[in-house]
Amino acid sequence: MNIMVIAAHPALHQSRANKALIQELNKHADIHIRDLYLEYPTWQINVEKEQRMLLQCDRIVFQFPFYWYSCPPLLKKWFDDVLTFGWAFGPGGENLLGKEFMIATTTGGTEPCYRSGGENMYTISELLRPIERTLTKCNGTFLPAFVAYSVTQATDAELAHVAEKYAEIIKAPRESLIH
Ligand SMILES: Cc1cc2nc3c(=O)[nH]c(=O)nc-3n(C[C@H](O)[C@H](O)[C@H](O)COP(=O)(O)O)c2cc1C
Repeated sequence: MNIMVIAAHPALHQSRANKALIQELNKHADIHIRDLYLEYPTWQINVEKEQRMLLQCDRIVFQFPFYWYSCPPLLKKWFDDVLTFGWAFGPGGENLLGKEFMIATTTGGTEPCYRSGGENMYTISELLRPIERTLTKCNGTFLPAFVAYSVTQATDAELAHVAEKYAEIIKAPRESLIH
């Protein structure tokens, strides 16, 4: 299975959690990791290259810190630019049929905050629905998200442990992820 991780962190040099996740993935030669903010410092996304890379993958993981209940803006632009009419959706837009997509996100908020009646009122799955629907409209299979909660409180050892779990999960077969 060809796995591509598109990491989108606006300030990766200041990151602890996403950096830890990437460091762990770097140990896995079969996972192709990309840093979107590094690749596109001027935000001019190479649509043709992105679409070509998508065609070569079976599973695409979007990894990002949860910012204002959503993804950082360059990733939103990536969706806007790359998922084009006639290529990703609409007539003839079936290039992503059968591709698996997963969100991997880190939060400042604790897990109990993300529930009905909790401080953030909604689960992460509910908050990720616009991205889920974007990808299913593009004929993709949306896998359950990997969420690392309250990472700002976590020790380095805890982050390393979460990162190991992350690497395992993104390589796991679809059947073991969907219950
Ligand atoms: C602009 C901004 C918005 C944020 N919004 C949220 C949020 O909506 N929910 C949340 O739980 N944490 C939020 N956070 C906290 C980040 O998710 C947290 O700092 C990040 O996941 C830590 O990962 P890192 O160490 O890789 O930077 C926000 C942080 C910033 C800077």
